[in-house]
Amino acid sequence: MKKRDDNCLLRKKPLPFEFPGANWFDRQEERAALRVIRAKSPFRYYGPKCGFEVDRLEDEFARVNGVKHALAVSSGTQALATAMAALGIGPGAEVIVPAYMWIAIVASIVRLGAIPVLADIDDSFTLDPRRLEQRITRRTRLIVGVHMSGAPADMAAILKVARRHKIPVLEDCAQCNGGSFRGRQVGSMGTLGIFSFQLNKNMTTGEGGMLVTNSTHLFRRASAIHDLGYPRIGGRLVMENGPYALWGFGGRLNEIAGAIGRVQLKKLPLVVAAMRKAKAQIKKGVADIQGLTFRRLNDTRGDTAAFLIMMLPDAGRAGKFAKALNADNIFAGMSPTLRVADFGMHVYFNIHSLVEKHSNSPDGFPWTLPANKHSVYSYTKGALPVSDALMERSVIMPIPSVMTGQDIQDTISAIRKAAAQLL
Ligand SMILES: Cc1ncc(COP(=O)(O)O)c(C=O)c1O
Repeated sequence: MKKRDDNCLLRKKPLPFEFPGANWFDRQEERAALRVIRAKSPFRYYGPKCGFEVDRLEDEFARVNGVKHALAVSSGTQALATAMAALGIGPGAEVIVPAYMWIAIVASIVRLGAIPVLADIDDSFTLDPRRLEQRITRRTRLIVGVHMSGAPADMAAILKVARRHKIPVLEDCAQCNGGSFRGRQVGSMGTLGIFSFQLNKNMTTGEGGMLVTNSTHLFRRASAIHDLGYPRIGGRLVMENGPYALWGFGGRLNEIAGAIGRVQLKKLPLVVAAMRKAKAQIKKGVADIQGLTFRRLNDTRGDTAAFLIMMLPDAGRAGKFAKALNADNIFAGMSPTLRVADFGMHVYFNIHSLVEKHSNSPDGFPWTLPANKHSVYSYTKGALPVSDALMERSVIMPIPSVMTGQDIQDTISAIRKAAAQLL
């Protein structure tokens, strides 16, 4: 970040880091990790004194989220790929994804041989259910609803469209762990749900993720696929031929992560409550500013409040607004406050490998597959003008989970100062 004369700065240091769960690490996580190390049993399925931490995390996670099955995996990306493979996504399939999402979603689709189809977001920055239907074709095999930037998508409206067309819905809850929609936990409403425990997420194990579902059949497929491609009973591989003899991804979670995850899961409501409190105070402190509006929330009570998205009248002023906040050190640790359109690989047109239809293999897979010959789409900027315009005039900043009263006050003052100059 470029430094100006220090006297002009509203504050001298950035806000705390955007590491919601890790900001709350203490002796409890230390003890959990040590427990596994002292038992010399870091593998989830067996060991000299295996504590079955990952098994326990899965049980606890399923209970908290009101779902029948939870499967721990090594990352959110792995959870996405495993969920899609469990659903049988492959060549000839189209998968609908929102314009604002994360590269891992399209990467998982493309690696499986399927084709991503972009759909608009609305001013909630999640899938616009009113425009979703237009994107459905005879080849649509999945809709990915992403609970972006801490807040839930409109699952009732998305599921209504999906059910009408008998298409499964995968909820991506990576950025919304602990969130809910109309009283139901995110991840529990779709056919499958996935979570990430990466460092920037509401609870973290460094790397890690979870897949949830109420379908025992999909859970069995996912269990085999995330591992060696075969089921296990009591931790032992079942190498029989049968419906669950598949191909594995090698995406198991380890016991140290499992033990830390159990502590973090208990802290999750506290972390979310802290972010909600800070965000509510900031919003209240700037509510009277004319020309500055907030992202619409599909369910205010279900927002985990990990991010604040503010909308300006136009793209030019949004860019200047973000710049002004960064100049006053109003950004979380190492994460600059940004226009949503500049938020890296969260935005379809910033993903070069998607725009240019890259392949990992020389044959151009999956774009050149005969099974995909009818699925030809553009991913360049302008493919979704309504979403583009929305993302260009909006500014996103993380709400750190350990903001002090002074941090909150500085944020309010900086927003007011920038708005006074621009609006
Ligand atoms: C919306 C979304 N989905 C999936 C992922 C992938 O999670 P991971 O980083 O654990 O692979 C992320 C991570 O940033 C994400 O933001």
